[in-house]
Amino acid sequence: MNDLVSMKDLTEVDIIELLDRAQNFQVYGARELPRKYTVSNLFFEPSTRTKVSFEVAERKLGIDVVPFEAGFSSSVKGETLYDTVKTLEAIGIDALVIRHPDVGYYKELIGKTKVSIINGGDGSGQHPTQSLLDLYTIREEFGGFEGLNIVIAGDIAHSRVARSNADALTKLGANVTFLCPKEWAGEFEAVHEWDEEILASDVIMLLRVQHERHNDKMSFTKESYHKQYGLTKERKKMMKENAIIMHPAPFNRGVEIDEELVECSKSRIFKQMENGVYVRMAVLELILNGRN
Ligand code: CP
Repeated sequence: MNDLVSMKDLTEVDIIELLDRAQNFQVYGARELPRKYTVSNLFFEPSTRTKVSFEVAERKLGIDVVPFEAGFSSSVKGETLYDTVKTLEAIGIDALVIRHPDVGYYKELIGKTKVSIINGGDGSGQHPTQSLLDLYTIREEFGGFEGLNIVIAGDIAHSRVARSNADALTKLGANVTFLCPKEWAGEFEAVHEWDEEILASDVIMLLRVQHERHNDKMSFTKESYHKQYGLTKERKKMMKENAIIMHPAPFNRGVEIDEELVECSKSRIFKQMENGVYVRMAVLELILNGRN
């Protein structure tokens, strides 16, 4: 594997191999890669988790991490992403983790640069390492995916997490249901009521309302969204005994999830973040060692 840009490119076998490699890092700890690689993280959209956990994963693998601040780079002077990547290739970078607002930004890069591209999120397109850490967390909890009922609830149309996870979870045999307001379903079929879903779900994956990607004025207040589509304390009481709550974060407390539920015993939200480091080590190791 030279690049990782979309979950659509991974087979079931590829996914399981990456999860197994991540598990090895969790159980046995990090080991430095056999040669010194140089990686840079290019974030043209804000990030806390993805950027920091990639950086931690890179450092644990003994990778040279070259700082890149998009806001102080020549992209501000009009340099295209393609020219930035070609520049970094010439300077000696082996791999780039890129987050960019344009869906499919990577299509103009793959095959035209020797630098490996790892997609850290492209607009509302894909977020493959988020999906892998979500899958890792689900497998850690349930041992597998076949037959699990997974509800992904929230701002589906704008969510790269929903797209990446729907592709992957369906491939792995889970039943995925989207739940959202009618106007937020995008290209997906969705349900619009919690009633039956809450009783049948093994995993409830909540998504952030992405205000920054909504052009129209929202038809919901925070309170009305929470009441109709959020995970309230009352809904949580109806969940199956072993069902879990997930959220890629950042979360809006009191909007898609009740303030108190973020850290309740069913929540795996911070576990997801921990698992992100193992998964990103696995992705970096597989891609960089493949360059030898
Ligand atoms: N889940 C996620 O991608 O978080 P960040 O935007 O903070 O990276």
